[in-house]
Amino acid sequence: MTKKMLSDLEIAVEKILQGELVAFPTETVYGLGADATNYLACEKIFALKGRPNFNPLIVHVSSLDDAKKYAEFSDKAELIAEKFWPGPLTMVLKINKDSNISQIVTASLDTIAIRCPAHPIALELIKQTARPIAAPSANKSGFVSPTCYDHVRKNFKENLHILDGGKCTYGLESTIIDLSDPNKSKILRHGFIDEIILSKILDEELSFESSMSVIKAPGSLQKHYSTKTPIRINAENASKDEVAINFAQSNLFGARDFNLSTIGDLREAAANLYNILVIADEIAIDSNLKSIVIAPIPEKALGIAINDKLRRASFK
Ligand code: TXA
Ligand code: MG
Repeated sequence: MTKKMLSDLEIAVEKILQGELVAFPTETVYGLGADATNYLACEKIFALKGRPNFNPLIVHVSSLDDAKKYAEFSDKAELIAEKFWPGPLTMVLKINKDSNISQIVTASLDTIAIRCPAHPIALELIKQTARPIAAPSANKSGFVSPTCYDHVRKNFKENLHILDGGKCTYGLESTIIDLSDPNKSKILRHGFIDEIILSKILDEELSFESSMSVIKAPGSLQKHYSTKTPIRINAENASKDEVAINFAQSNLFGARDFNLSTIGDLREAAANLYNILVIADEIAIDSNLKSIVIAPIPEKALGIAINDKLRRASFK
């Protein structure tokens, strides 16, 4: 870390301890963080994002030992943490009754979503504040998640302190697995850590249930990850008043054309997705184009997560 980065980090630590918000990089997307034990600080996250208060936040910690202060770890949860932390995996677990996590963070549920991120700046921020950090993605509620400093800056015109950690490695939010019911584990959000691997490690079949139905707000956030410009997915063609986003060998020609991964690599496509959506949206708005059209993405491996985001981004 450079000298400038260090002083930016020192300011960030101060801000968190004073109950202010700080945006910071993780290996998945940038987060909008606050001290998870401070009600007033966390309330600011909901206000700034325009996030409905029934939608709980993920708590970020710097180690498994730390996580145990806030959540009840079963053997399964411990196994998953040892395998995948630090990394792009969030677990929903029963909340530790002695934890001092603010109820606004968990939306008063008896469970908590918790993860240990792998980005060195995120880990430093957590360690130096010695606080659990509640953080959703650093975007206005319902819109595209940020994968670099500039995205966050554009999302919030407000005077927000942002730590710059470059481009996010994965570019998609963490996989969420719900291990709070000992008899039935569920995937709540698709991500980089694949459910086939999780299912093998746990030796258990995993069903998918969206986190919204688990927090008893079914359908309320079907529209998500949105651009301002309408999106058309699985497109076979594009016209000159559209921006085209291709994948692999697809041949959509619009007013402007992008490719998520010319070699058809789903990891590369995931890492590029939000950045290309942000740029395509800006071009469409500036040039008055009617939509963003996206070529089909294979519904396998990371393609499942990408398609889930795209379906919701295109939801009308
Ligand atoms: O990669 C990530 O996870 C990023 C970075 C910043 O860590 N964070 C992120 O947070 O994506 P957010 O707030 O955008 O998504 C959190 C998801 C929401 O869908 C929320 O409903 C779900 O986690 N969630 C949080 N607590 C939960 C709980 N107790 N039970 C079920 N779902 C929960
Ligand atoms: Mg989000």
